[in-house]
Amino acid sequence: MNQNLPACLFNGQILTPEELTFPELARGFMYGDGVFETLRARNYVVFRWQEHWERMKQGLATCRIRFERTGKSVEEEIIRLLTGYQLQDAYVRVNIWRSRPDVFDPGREESGHVLIFARPFQPYPEQDYRQGLRCLVSQRFRRNENSPLSSVKSLNMLENILARLEARQSGYQDALLCNTRNYLTEATTANLFFVRDGVVCTPALACGALAGITRSIILTICRRKNLPVKEGQFPVRYLGGASEVFLTNTLMGVMPVREVAPVFQSRSFSFSQMFQEELNHLFLEETSGRHQKNT
Ligand SMILES: Cc1ncc(COP(=O)(O)O)c(C=O)c1O
Repeated sequence: MNQNLPACLFNGQILTPEELTFPELARGFMYGDGVFETLRARNYVVFRWQEHWERMKQGLATCRIRFERTGKSVEEEIIRLLTGYQLQDAYVRVNIWRSRPDVFDPGREESGHVLIFARPFQPYPEQDYRQGLRCLVSQRFRRNENSPLSSVKSLNMLENILARLEARQSGYQDALLCNTRNYLTEATTANLFFVRDGVVCTPALACGALAGITRSIILTICRRKNLPVKEGQFPVRYLGGASEVFLTNTLMGVMPVREVAPVFQSRSFSFSQMFQEELNHLFLEETSGRHQKNT
């Protein structure tokens, strides 16, 4: 396989990315009229597929996109793609979008298109985990906690991309977003956690944060370890009293943050390292090839 091109399955057929035709891609491309999931797979087991599929189904329902296939059949296709290309440790992305017509008004649509692509997993730079990320709080973009779309992983990531650019242009690696009431929500592609007075805190989903699969794993680990947790509404200045901040998503796992300008700075990463180890343990256990079901 050409390492620069992802292996790609479109509506059940293995294609090269060049073989995808515009009419089929149209609504996803022209309007961002669809949803996606980013996944990790190892030994041909998709980590936490059921949870990702549930979120995807909810996103499809919110966006009123018809999709008549089952999660099981999509999972089987992912595994077919991975085995076909012998991708033992893989990044997988599943995209589902509204089918034609390619004019704005959806009209009477058929079941949505599904495009799955996969490529060898590329970890985030080791240095980021060692040093922690530098973030700022976006001044330009806000999550709208009142919009149903704040809980959807939609194909339109422009707001997140522009907030990331805002951070990059000021010399930071990522941006945190507040909602319309000035409460923290999440980062551009990750959920936000911090530890304050020994309590593991994360913005409540009602603040407009995505219901991250990794976020929910961290909360489960906290319950198992009897660590106090607070899901709430936190103003930016509240981070000033935190001892540790970290971000979570499927691909990076648990990423420490060393700075949130201008309110937080710390080199203490003990919680994030502990959560990263626990998460890694779960990942290895559930993708060993013996343990097929999520718990
Ligand atoms: C905006 C946003 N928040 C949170 C997450 C974390 O979600 P998960 O842990 O399911 O990957 C993501 C993942 O890409 C994201 O894009």
